[in-house]
Amino acid sequence: MSYTLTTPLYYVNDRAHLGSTYTTLACDAIARYQRLCGERVTFITGCDEHGQKIQRTAEAAGLTPQDHCDRVSEGYRELWRRWQISNNRFIRTTAPRHRELVEQFFARVEASGDVLEGRQQGWYCVACEEFKDDPHEAQDPECPIHRKPLEWRDEVNLFFRLSRFQSQIEKLIRRPGFIAPASRQKEVENFVAQGLRDFSISRVDLPWGIPVPGHPGHTFYVWFDALLGYLSALLQSDPTAAAGSVDGEEGPVDLDQVLQRGWPAQLHVIGKDILRFHAVYWPAMLLSAGLPLPERVFGHGFLTREGQKMGKSLGNVLDPELLLERCGSDAVRWYLLRDIPFGEDGDFQQQRFSDLVNNDLANTIGNLLNRTSTMARKWFAEAVPPAGDAATSSHALAQAGSQAVEQFRQSMNRLEFRPAAEAILQLAIAANGYLNERAPWSAMKQPGQEEQVGQDLYAVLEASRLAAVLLAPLLPDLSGRMLEQLGLQPFDSSKPSPQTGGWLDALSWGGLEAGQTLPQPQPVMQRLELNGPL
Ligand code: MSP
Repeated sequence: MSYTLTTPLYYVNDRAHLGSTYTTLACDAIARYQRLCGERVTFITGCDEHGQKIQRTAEAAGLTPQDHCDRVSEGYRELWRRWQISNNRFIRTTAPRHRELVEQFFARVEASGDVLEGRQQGWYCVACEEFKDDPHEAQDPECPIHRKPLEWRDEVNLFFRLSRFQSQIEKLIRRPGFIAPASRQKEVENFVAQGLRDFSISRVDLPWGIPVPGHPGHTFYVWFDALLGYLSALLQSDPTAAAGSVDGEEGPVDLDQVLQRGWPAQLHVIGKDILRFHAVYWPAMLLSAGLPLPERVFGHGFLTREGQKMGKSLGNVLDPELLLERCGSDAVRWYLLRDIPFGEDGDFQQQRFSDLVNNDLANTIGNLLNRTSTMARKWFAEAVPPAGDAATSSHALAQAGSQAVEQFRQSMNRLEFRPAAEAILQLAIAANGYLNERAPWSAMKQPGQEEQVGQDLYAVLEASRLAAVLLAPLLPDLSGRMLEQLGLQPFDSSKPSPQTGGWLDALSWGGLEAGQTLPQPQPVMQRLELNGPL
């Protein structure tokens, strides 16, 4: 049972921003969830380092392209480490082993008769590294995404015979679930229906790229090279793998080996901007090389900030470094996953961000645990009170718990983070309601009520435990702090599955043991007090 998923391999023209952080955090939640469910997960991320855009950026910074790439990709690696991203691979497309793999792949595609020479004329966006469909006679066309002038290109290139795959690709993109969310399928269908045209896979006079074997003067088109990064990543070693396991070793650079190391991928998560590359070009390349196709391509939406596109010129870029430092990983993860339906566009609004974090995490979830544990410690010898009937599945909160578990799992299996997060929140709301209704603080003042109060507190503590368990893949830190507050071990969802710690079992009601010592309560979630814009 293996589960391979990827983020896009990010361009190193600039540092990471909120957009790439969003995609990576979402993938991290999926990877953690799959590990907790017992899958052997290979979570790939990395950097896309060739092409004209990178070459120009390096020149402008007065650096060699390699020096520039070394710096920026190290920045990505370090940033993901600080956000505790649980990737098992980090691929750089300038790695010598990647070049070997690209050469092998190209040899296969060439042997299939899918490489032709041709003349490429058209309007090119360097920021997208993509030819646009603007007519040749267009006057000063602009890229609709980057709002930058397109550049006219006219050169003899090598082409990939995409046209040969028309019917296979048509069939593939209609397969339910291949393109997700389903709302994005139509757009790709329209593109394919126009008839697939061969696309150029090499550039001349562009030194910053991998040379095409047997075709002097040509380097590979950056997208051809970048997509193959998903395969070379699999041939790297996994630093988290158990000693002696296949994944722990750096395999030989042999294209066939990818099949033993997690290919085909279950999921490519990308932004909607690069769906065509993943749902059309990439599968055709794989078909040509005789390799199996990924199961699913998920195109998520774009983030804006306070209603505006984020960009340097607007001066409104949200720096993920600063965000992490000032707000912490739990707060940002919660806001992005809980508030933006995955797949749709979203808007980062600071007021809403702090409101949700404070209401949901600090009050509804955090405070509940804190005050219940304080009462239990005070009246029941600093320990979990005897459960009585509260540990049985017919208890009102046990039912709320099993509903939450079911909604959470169904939603996570569909990559719907918002209803998954809401399931946790609903459970905490139900537990708060129960606590207020039972009012143990007044019941405790009446004689003979101690047993009932104990059971009520047990039920609320157990609901909090369940909320903490469910939070593990989404907010691993908060989950860990809550479990520690209950005297329990956190789950390590960054580790390969046998070491993650029985997460599925922990989803059953009644797991909390009466008599378990409760440590001195600490607030598990700080409130966000943001003075001024981030
Ligand atoms: N290098 C290519 C991908 C090659 S994959 C083999 C590339 N890189 S990129 O650095 O431009 O990253 C694009 C991805 O970053 C998007 O697909 C999306 O996942 C993420 N985002 C960039 N800006 C974004 C927003 N404003 N909002 C949400 N995500 C966005 O394309």
